[in-house]
Amino acid sequence: MGNVKHFMDCWDYSNEELMDMAELIMQLKKDAKAGRCPKLLKDRSLAMIFNGNSTRTRVSFEVAATQLGAHALYLTGGEEGELHLGKRETIGDTATVVSSMVDGIAMRWRPTLEMEEFAKNCSVPFFNGMDHTRHPTQTLCDFVTILENLPEGKELKDVTLTFIGSTGVRETSANDLAKLLPRFGATVILSSPEGYVLGGEHDKNEQWMIDKNVNGRRQACAEGGGKVLEIQDPKEAVQNADYIYTGCFCYEGTESKSDFEIYERDFISKGYQVTKELLSLCPNVKTMHYLPALRGKEMTDYTMDYEGSLLWKQAENRLHTQRGLMAYLMGPLAPDFYAASKKESEARAKEKIREMREKYGTGYTHK
Ligand code: CP
Repeated sequence: MGNVKHFMDCWDYSNEELMDMAELIMQLKKDAKAGRCPKLLKDRSLAMIFNGNSTRTRVSFEVAATQLGAHALYLTGGEEGELHLGKRETIGDTATVVSSMVDGIAMRWRPTLEMEEFAKNCSVPFFNGMDHTRHPTQTLCDFVTILENLPEGKELKDVTLTFIGSTGVRETSANDLAKLLPRFGATVILSSPEGYVLGGEHDKNEQWMIDKNVNGRRQACAEGGGKVLEIQDPKEAVQNADYIYTGCFCYEGTESKSDFEIYERDFISKGYQVTKELLSLCPNVKTMHYLPALRGKEMTDYTMDYEGSLLWKQAENRLHTQRGLMAYLMGPLAPDFYAASKKESEARAKEKIREMREKYGTGYTHK
């Protein structure tokens, strides 16, 4: 697909390029906070195709597109959706048609291979808004949030992030972070009840999905010198944590009474809940959660709202992340993108993007 770079997985991008993306995101965030939002995607269009519920991903893509001067279309797919996609038109044909009319496509679509089929047929940048195995725009956002909130005197290589909860394939953020942070030398500790680990008795996912994560973790540690450790006891797992991260107990499809009973029995009653007591074991720790969260289930009100909670900063950063990501991958494809600008913030953003495109080209920089 020519000079088009998709954002399917953070894995596809080198450490250096991810760090530059984070810098661009932070630069545009600073400008936006000061009331300056360069129209880097003026008159462009973004299609947003979703087959599941979303608050943060949907709102952040749409608002970021509008702030950049683009128009965003929200389209629903799947059984109840308005698009023909997957029902009376092949995935590839819909991708070909939609991408001939817009300048970028963001998609939340659970089946990973269907999403890949869609992206393969896209002639414009494609953004994975979460599939069954990955949530890269959330992971890039988390990366930025961690960089912005490093403990005093520590660099990224020095930090420890402890994830509490299920860490099977479906827990995309835990798995994405375990493949990303060790590439920068950091430590990720995964603390799950017995059987709720990658490939465990309760991880009913296909073997290739499990293997991809296992191999990714291994490669990430080998490349960056970081560590991924599994420590079952949550109290032991948080001992040296700089960040305690947790995720949704319930997501779409697992919200029945019996699901809640299982969560109560296997998680909460066994200490897999982020509580004030857990935080007392690691002073100055910050809490993270990609949200939505069930208050009183995976986290208590206190740990969601206390001064060390990064939850709301993390959620807001979804907007800043989409803005930078779309500017980087969609902007340079417009013929007049690099035209001179009298506005300082716009000129600065274009210069940063030009440097990045020259450095990294249009191919993927990490294998
Ligand atoms: N974290 C996240 O992706 O939130 P939404 O499901 O609301 O988009």
